[in-house]
Amino acid sequence: MQLETAQDGKMWLGVLLALMLCPGLEGQENPFTINYIHMNILPGLEVQNGENLTLQCVVDISTTSHVKPQHWVLFYKDDVLFHNVSSMKNTESYFIPQARVYDAGTYKCTVILNNKEKTTSEYQVWVKGVSNPRVTLDKKEAIEGGVVTVNCSVPEENPPIYFTIEKLKLDAKGFKQKREKVSQNQNFMVMEFTVEEQDHVILFQCQARIFSGTNVEISKAIRSELVTVTESFSNPRFHISPKGVITEGDQLNIKCTIQVTHLVQSFPEIIIQKDKAIVAHKTHGNEATYSVMAMVEHNGNYTCKVEASRISKVSSIVVNITELFSKPKLESSTTRLDHGESLNLWCSIPGAPPANFTIQKENTIVSLSQNFTKIASERDRGTYTCSAGIGKVVKKSNAVQITVCEMLSKPRIFYDSGPEVIKGQTIAVSCQSVNGTAPISYHLVKANSILESCNMDSNEPAVFKDKPTKDVEYQCIADNCHSHTEMISEVLRVKVIAPVDEVKLTILLNEEVESGKEVVLRCSVNDASGPITYRFYREKEGSPFYQIISNDTYAMWHKEKASKEHEGQYYCTAFNRANLVKSNPQSNILTVRVFLAPWKKGLIAVVVIGVIIATLILGARCCFLKKAKAKQTPVEMARPAAPLLNSSNEKMLSDPDTEANRHYGYSEDVGNHAMKPANENKEPLTMDVEYTEVQVTPSEPYQEKNRSQNKAPSGNIPDSRDKQPAGLGLETKGTETVYSEIRKTNPDFVENRYSRTEGSLDGT
Ligand SMILES: *[C@@H]1O[C@H](CO)[C@@H](O)[C@H](O)[C@H]1NC(C)=O
Ligand SMILES: *[C@@H]1O[C@H](CO)[C@@H](O)[C@H](O)[C@H]1NC(C)=O
Ligand SMILES: *[C@@H]1O[C@H](CO)[C@@H](O)[C@H](O)[C@H]1NC(C)=O
Ligand SMILES: *[C@@H]1O[C@H](CO)[C@@H](O)[C@H](O)[C@H]1NC(C)=O
Ligand SMILES: *[C@@H]1O[C@H](CO)[C@@H](O)[C@H](O)[C@H]1NC(C)=O
Ligand SMILES: *[C@@H]1O[C@H](CO)[C@@H](O)[C@H](O)[C@H]1NC(C)=O
Ligand SMILES: *[C@@H]1O[C@H](CO)[C@@H](O)[C@H](O)[C@H]1NC(C)=O
Ligand SMILES: *[C@@H]1O[C@H](CO)[C@@H](O)[C@H](O)[C@H]1NC(C)=O
Ligand SMILES: *[C@@H]1O[C@H](CO)[C@@H](O)[C@H](O)[C@H]1NC(C)=O
Repeated sequence: MQLETAQDGKMWLGVLLALMLCPGLEGQENPFTINYIHMNILPGLEVQNGENLTLQCVVDISTTSHVKPQHWVLFYKDDVLFHNVSSMKNTESYFIPQARVYDAGTYKCTVILNNKEKTTSEYQVWVKGVSNPRVTLDKKEAIEGGVVTVNCSVPEENPPIYFTIEKLKLDAKGFKQKREKVSQNQNFMVMEFTVEEQDHVILFQCQARIFSGTNVEISKAIRSELVTVTESFSNPRFHISPKGVITEGDQLNIKCTIQVTHLVQSFPEIIIQKDKAIVAHKTHGNEATYSVMAMVEHNGNYTCKVEASRISKVSSIVVNITELFSKPKLESSTTRLDHGESLNLWCSIPGAPPANFTIQKENTIVSLSQNFTKIASERDRGTYTCSAGIGKVVKKSNAVQITVCEMLSKPRIFYDSGPEVIKGQTIAVSCQSVNGTAPISYHLVKANSILESCNMDSNEPAVFKDKPTKDVEYQCIADNCHSHTEMISEVLRVKVIAPVDEVKLTILLNEEVESGKEVVLRCSVNDASGPITYRFYREKEGSPFYQIISNDTYAMWHKEKASKEHEGQYYCTAFNRANLVKSNPQSNILTVRVFLAPWKKGLIAVVVIGVIIATLILGARCCFLKKAKAKQTPVEMARPAAPLLNSSNEKMLSDPDTEANRHYGYSEDVGNHAMKPANENKEPLTMDVEYTEVQVTPSEPYQEKNRSQNKAPSGNIPDSRDKQPAGLGLETKGTETVYSEIRKTNPDFVENRYSRTEGSLDGT
C-alpha cells in the first residue's frame, strides 16, 4: 500500500509536470466524438408573418476532458451559409425578429470539430401571410373628372410583389374599378384612378401577394382614407315653356341648364337632341335653348347632354304638343288624264274648321281656294300640294302626282339603208311618235307578229335591229298613257336581195357529145335574187362567149350542132347587184368532149378503103404491065405462091403470137367497152387516121396503144380481123352495122394487102 501511495505520489507529480510543461498537448490527446446534432425551430416550422423566429442548433459531444472542446457551428438557409460561430456550448441560436415571407426556406446547421464534421437534416420553415400593406393617397378631396394617385406599399417584404388596388364607393357594394399589377423591383405600387360622375365619397383598398416556393401568401386587404368628390357641373335640367298644355302655334322653348363649380377651368358643352338630330348646342355657358313654334312634329323625347373631357351627364324629357287641326288632305278625281280633260283638285281638313287654303303646283300657287279646276294640258302635269292655315299655324298636305297625257301622233317608220337590203345585212328600223306624252312603248310588227318591244322615255325614235332574209313588211305600234288605243304606223316594205354565192355548171345529157348533136350547158345558182347576169366562158379565153341576164336561178347555152371545135373546158359566172362588191362567184370547170358518130367513121372508112383499093389496083396494074414486058418468071413464081401464101398466112397467125395474145386481151377490153358503147370512140379522130383506127380498134380506149398499132398495122390487121367478131358481137346495133360494113371490105382488103401477085393474076 505504501508502494501504491508512493506510486500515486510519483504519478501526480508526473501529471503536474506534464500539465506544467506541455499544457497544449492535453486537448489533442483527449479523444472526442460528436454524438448527435439537430435543430430546434421556435415557435415551430410554420410561423405567422411578424412572429419572432428562433433557430437553435443543438450539439452533443463526448470527450474525456472535463472541458468542453471548442467547435464551429454553421447555419445554412437554402444551402447558403448565413451565420457561423465558434462555440464551446451545446446549443447555439440564431434569432429572426418578425419573420417575413422571404425568411421562409430550408434551414440546416453543421458542427465542425477538428477534422470531424456533422450536419443536421433540412428543416422547411413556412412564413404564413404577408404583412399589411400601407395605402396612401395624394389627396383627400377630388373633383369629377380628376385623378387620385394611390400608393400601395409593403415595406417589410421583398419584391416581386403582386398588388391589387380597387376603387370603392363608400355607400355601395362591390368594387367600382379593380386593377392588378406586379412590381418586380420595388415593394410599392403607384396607380392613378379617375374620378367619375356619381362618385361622391370614394376609397381605395390594396392587397399584396407574394410567391413563396409553390405557395402564394396573401396579405389582408387594407383600405385607404376616404376621398370626398365634388361635382364639376350639375346634372342638366330641362325648363319647358309655356308651362302646362302646349298647343300648336305656341312659342315653344326647351331650355337645358347646368351649374358649374368654380374649380372647373372651362365650361362643358351642352347639346339638346331630339332623337338623333341635334337641335341646339352651346359650348361656353351654362344653358342651351331650343326655340320653335310648336307643331305636332315637335312632339318627342328631348335629350340634353353635357360633355366635358372625361365626364358626360345626360337627362331627357318628353314634350307633348296638342294638335290644333289635322293635316289637310289633297284629293283628285284621277291622277292620269288625257289632254283636254278636266283636272279637279280639292283640299280639306277633317272636321272642316274655318281655314285659309292654297293649292300649289311644285312651288307655284295655282289656287287660293280649297278647290282647283282646269282643262288639262301637257303643262299641267306635276306634283300638287295644298296648305291650310289657321292663324299662324300652316300645314302642308300630301302630294298628288298628276299626269296629263297627250295623244300620240301616228308613228313614223323608217330604216337606215337604201331601197334594197342585201340578205344577211342588219338593218335598223326606227319608230317615232313625234308628238305625245312619254313614256311611249313601241312594238315592231313583222309578218303579223310582234318582233320586239321597246319603251322610250322621250319622243326620240325607238330603234329595232333585224336581219331580214327575204322581202318583209314592218309596222309599228305605239302606245302611251293616253286613253286612246294604240297608234299604228304605215307599212314599211323592205326588199331583200340575195347575192349569188354558189354557181354550178352542168351539161345536159352527157359530157361526151356526138358530133353534130346538140350541146346544152346549164349554169345554175343558189336562191339568189334576179336579175342575175350569167356569163359562159371557155377556159383560157378572157371574155365570155355568151352572156344573159335572167330572173331565173339558171341560164342555158346551147349549140345545135356540136363539132370538134366545141370541145374544151367550160365554166360560168353569175352575179346580181348584191354581188357588185365582191368578186363574182365562178362555177366548177366542166370538160366537154365531142366525138364523131360511128356511122360517119364507117362512111369515111368505106371511102378511104375504096380509094386505097383503087390505088392498089392501079399500082398493081402498072407494076404487072412493066414486069410482063421485062420477064415471064415472076409470074410463074407467083403461081405456087398462092398455097404458100396460105401457109405463110398461117405462119403469120402463129408468128405474132405474142402480139396476138395481147390483142386478144385487148379484144376482151373491147368487149367490156362494148357494154357501154357511149364510151367507145372517146378519143378525137382525125380524118387521116380514122380508117386505120377503126380497123384496129381492139385497143381503142388506149389512145397510146392505138398509136403504136398505127405504126405497124400490117402485122396486126389479119389477127384483129379474126378476133373482132367475137368481141364486136356484143356491140349494139348501131355499131354492128358499122362492123358489117367493115367486114364487107375485108376480103378485098386482105387480097389487096397480102397477095399483090394474086390481085395481079386476077387482073390478067
Ligand atoms: C420579439 O422580440 C422582441 C425583441 O427583439 C421582443 O421585444 C418582443 O417582445 C418579442 N415578441 C414576442 C411575441 O415574444
Ligand atoms: C466564420 O466566419 C468568419 C468571418 O465571418 C470566417 O473568417 C471563417 O472562415 C468562418 N468559418 C467557417 C468555418 O466558415
Ligand atoms: C410610396 O410609398 C413608399 C413608402 O410607403 C415610398 O417609399 C415610395 O417612395 C412611395 N412612392 C411614391 C411614388 O410616392
Ligand atoms: C328618351 O331618350 C333617352 C335616351 O335615348 C332614353 O334614355 C329615355 O328612356 C327616353 N325616354 C322616353 C320616355 O322614351
Ligand atoms: C299627350 O297629351 C295628350 C293629351 O293632351 C295625351 O292624350 C297623349 O297621350 C299625350 N302623349 C304622350 C306621348 O304623352
Ligand atoms: C270643292 O269641291 C268639292 C268636290 O268637288 C265639293 O264638294 C266642294 O263643294 C267644293 N268646294 C268649293 C268651295 O267649291
Ligand atoms: C285667313 O287669312 C286672312 C288674311 O290673312 C286672315 O285675316 C284670317 O284670319 C285668316 N283666317 C284663318 C282662319 O286663319
Ligand atoms: C306635233 O305637234 C305640233 C304642235 O304641237 C304640230 O305642229 C305638229 O304637226 C305635230 N306633229 C304631228 C306629227 O302630229
Ligand atoms: C325580172 O323581173 C322584173 C320584175 O320582177 C322585171 O321588171 C324584169 O323585166 C324581169 N327581167 C327579165 C330579164 O325577165
